[in-house]
Amino acid sequence: MDQRATRRDFLGLPLAVPLAGLAGRALAQPPAGFVPDVELELTAQPAEHEIFRGVQTGTWCYRGKLVKGRAGTLEDSGSYLGPTMRLRRGDKVRVVFRNELPESTIVHWHGLAMPALMDGHPRLVIPKGARYLYEFEVLDRAGHYWYHPHPDERTGPQVYRGLAGQIFVQDDEESALRLPSGDHEIPLVLQDRTFDGDKQLLYLAGRMEAMRGFLGEQILVNGTPEKELHLATGAYRLRLFNGSNSRIYKLAWSNGMPFTVIGTDGGLLERPLRKPYLVLAPAERADVIVDLSGQTMGTSIELRSLRYPAPQMMMMGGGMGRGMGGMGRGGGLEQGSEFRVLRVRVERKETGGFRMPARLSQPGFRRRQEAENAEEPRVYSLSFMRMQWYLNDRTFEMEEVEANETFRAGSVQVLEFRNASRAMMRMAHPMHVHGGQFQVLRRTPAAEADEMAAAMNEGFTDEGWKDTVLVLPGETVQVLMKFPRFPGLFLYHCHILEHEDMGMMRNYRLT
Ligand code: C2O
Ligand code: CU
Ligand code: CU
Repeated sequence: MDQRATRRDFLGLPLAVPLAGLAGRALAQPPAGFVPDVELELTAQPAEHEIFRGVQTGTWCYRGKLVKGRAGTLEDSGSYLGPTMRLRRGDKVRVVFRNELPESTIVHWHGLAMPALMDGHPRLVIPKGARYLYEFEVLDRAGHYWYHPHPDERTGPQVYRGLAGQIFVQDDEESALRLPSGDHEIPLVLQDRTFDGDKQLLYLAGRMEAMRGFLGEQILVNGTPEKELHLATGAYRLRLFNGSNSRIYKLAWSNGMPFTVIGTDGGLLERPLRKPYLVLAPAERADVIVDLSGQTMGTSIELRSLRYPAPQMMMMGGGMGRGMGGMGRGGGLEQGSEFRVLRVRVERKETGGFRMPARLSQPGFRRRQEAENAEEPRVYSLSFMRMQWYLNDRTFEMEEVEANETFRAGSVQVLEFRNASRAMMRMAHPMHVHGGQFQVLRRTPAAEADEMAAAMNEGFTDEGWKDTVLVLPGETVQVLMKFPRFPGLFLYHCHILEHEDMGMMRNYRLT
């Protein structure tokens, strides 16, 4: 039976049909016997938010409603961001998604392993007024995942207007650690936006800017400019997530404290790691502990993004300068410039310390030898020609899959990303693979010494489970991926959303 056609029928029904009738029809179809632990309604719609005091900014946002499940499953983000979902590993989740935007969209659950029809592939978009029924089981480890739109050519602008939300998955292994929680666990979503004189969102100024990727002039944390945290002299768990379209952050504390990293995209590390600074590319997450117990009252510490050399398209002048460096609108924040992300003020005394466990988790890593192609990685080159970014000299076609993009469902494979962008067009690309998490096996630097690599090398968290890995100019990164057991079409792409939208994205097929 063609599941896709069945689901389409459900989706295509007009909004006027009562939901009960809809569900009855759709749920008579596969997957049979799906009994959800959690049931949500999620709607994408135009809205207004007060990002700056006293001014309404037009946005697009996700609104959610918990129909069935534990209290606290859905948490208001307090901003234009979508509601935060708190799920447990093993939860069966049903989401009835409704599109109230003036254009087509579909939801993708970034980092989670899903059957193909649940993964938000662009071919599954639904028009305004239609609904999509998601039913899936949370198979992944405890971790920090997220959801966002995935329509072809329109992901960048939709995310930019506000369509993104966080998903925290918990499991028993994580709960047993008694990590800082409640108001001592703080999600921090980093985004950059540009506003016009009326504080309305401005997006790309044109094709040239798209090639470089959108860079905003204003840093927002959890949807708020000039973010401040008022904290006590205790230990906090900060759950960082780069929700920016293109900006790469090199995060550091202003007082020189190192980062204590406990987790990455796909959950907890085996042991805590120390990093002098942390590189967070678009879509990447980091789970860190900051211990303020030694700080005196009144101390103020900044989380900053440090300067780094970001080789960019050197096509300034010649009539193409505007927008290239982000300076076109005046006072822009170029890739690699230094700025404050947020300020922490220590304002309360608190006793009772947190002891960092020596061992955090059993990551369950696999060995290269387990891969079907251990000696022969599948190679994907990232390149630029004729004003366009490519993967193996190809761009996205809705249903197209090449031989080296076909894998056996459930198999373990070595993938190799080679950043071949050269000379005038050297850029770092955060490569993302749908279908779950991978391990970084090896990072081979460019043949010539590279300034960007020198400035970033110590800030990668290649030690943990990842779904997005930054590949620097000239670098080759090998990852080990265990593909999900679900057959069908999935995606891999650059998570600079403007690159994705211009086609730096491809299908892969699991058979
Ligand atoms: Cu977060 Cu295909 O993307
Ligand atoms: Cu994804
Ligand atoms: Cu890219």
